[in-house]
Amino acid sequence: MRQVHCFATPTELMSACADAVSSVLSAAIELQGIARIALSGGSTPAALYAELARRPQALPWSRVRFYFGDERSVPQDHPDSNFRLAKTHLFTPLSIDPAQVFPMVSAPPLSPTAEAARYAALLAEFAAPNGVPVFDLILNGMGDDGHFASLFPGTPALDERSKTVVVNPVERLQTERLTLTFPVFEAARRVLFLVSGASKHAAFTASGQPDSDLPVARLSRARVTDWFIDRACAEGSGQ
Ligand code: 6PG
Repeated sequence: MRQVHCFATPTELMSACADAVSSVLSAAIELQGIARIALSGGSTPAALYAELARRPQALPWSRVRFYFGDERSVPQDHPDSNFRLAKTHLFTPLSIDPAQVFPMVSAPPLSPTAEAARYAALLAEFAAPNGVPVFDLILNGMGDDGHFASLFPGTPALDERSKTVVVNPVERLQTERLTLTFPVFEAARRVLFLVSGASKHAAFTASGQPDSDLPVARLSRARVTDWFIDRACAEGSGQ
């Protein structure tokens, strides 16, 4: 089921999404002393991270543990690295202690298979009795093909139900990615999609259709998902 929150402009969208992220993390800290969030990659979250970085007093950031929903098979300092994106726009401006951050790719990188096994073992430290790690919040973007994290349409990771982190070959991109798997997204306390722009309109519409097989539609049928979108995404026109 989708809970949709639509805002007129990208600026209003990022501000509202930052409010929501702060609220969820604060509640988790209040309840259990810490909050665990899995961050999204791509370009959209950069503006959200910058907005959060302008709010050093929003919550006790030292109580937040930062993980990742997926990662490219590149070193941490590579321009395509999701870790580098978050470090640049969020961790460094907020002076987050590196001990609070858990990159999917090590420095120096291990093999993708070794990184997936290492990360799964790390996440197992806060797994429920069924072995699935429970994040307080997972932040996702969405591709215009309806993928999220690195769960792309037609890729093997979509059907993975026992492992929590896998290497997923993405033929369309001629690469392989590291990604959390569906059971982890289904188990999270909250899942928040941040989607901006007219190019995402068709996939966003499909995410709510009962007969769509897009990864975002499959997740939205499996659990409650919060969608923070702008009018351009909702209407398919504008920026
Ligand atoms: C990644 C992301 C991916 C991203 C979408 C949207 O590693 O690229 O996790 O799922 O959220 O591809 O990307 P944009 O925000 O750049 O449109």
